Amino acid sequence: MEDLIADLKQNGWACMTAETPDLDAIQLMRECASICAAGDFTQAATGRGSGLQVRDGIRGDQILWLPPGGATADQKTWLARLECFRLAINQQLFLGLFEYEGHFAVYPVGSFYKAHLDQHAGARDRILTVILYLNADWQPGDGGELKLWTTPQGREGNYQLIEPRMGTIVCFMSDEFWHEVLPTNKERMSITGWFRKAPAA
Ligand code: OGA
Ligand code: MN
Repeated sequence: MEDLIADLKQNGWACMTAETPDLDAIQLMRECASICAAGDFTQAATGRGSGLQVRDGIRGDQILWLPPGGATADQKTWLARLECFRLAINQQLFLGLFEYEGHFAVYPVGSFYKAHLDQHAGARDRILTVILYLNADWQPGDGGELKLWTTPQGREGNYQLIEPRMGTIVCFMSDEFWHEVLPTNKERMSITGWFRKAPAA
């Protein structure tokens, strides 16, 4: 976690692969798969409020929002880890991270999420994006990489391709880093979320 925070401080983004096996992530993968199989996920949309739209040409994932505090012991474990992360980041980077919103996401075979920034137009409250990947035995050729452009505000030049392997954690400043999910050749699962700042008083 310390390395992740140091990289985040230096670069505005960071990635950490898991020690194997990451038992917490494996449990969350099982949970994500079974809730999704039960049909409780909904097609993800883009925008918010009256601008909310399902556009298959932009993103093809299905999502389920985590209830605040977590619905299950495994969700609570992940949220507790995020809370430690939030406190450490606030101490070291002074970002004033306040609350968290996050969802499970399942990308069916062939789906993707076109290049975007995570901060909604007109809203400046999403500060930091944090993604935990939940895919066992991900192989080169399975696709579904996160393409993260590493120049703030840029969509040319340097980028990283991050494989969505079990337990890998990626974080980046939500309003600075363009990113996309490349088409996946295998079902692809994650928990994606955002730390927001406190609403203006
Ligand atoms: C998102 C997103 C990236 C990923 O949900 O906004 O960009 O790798 N996800 O799942
Ligand atoms: Mn995104």
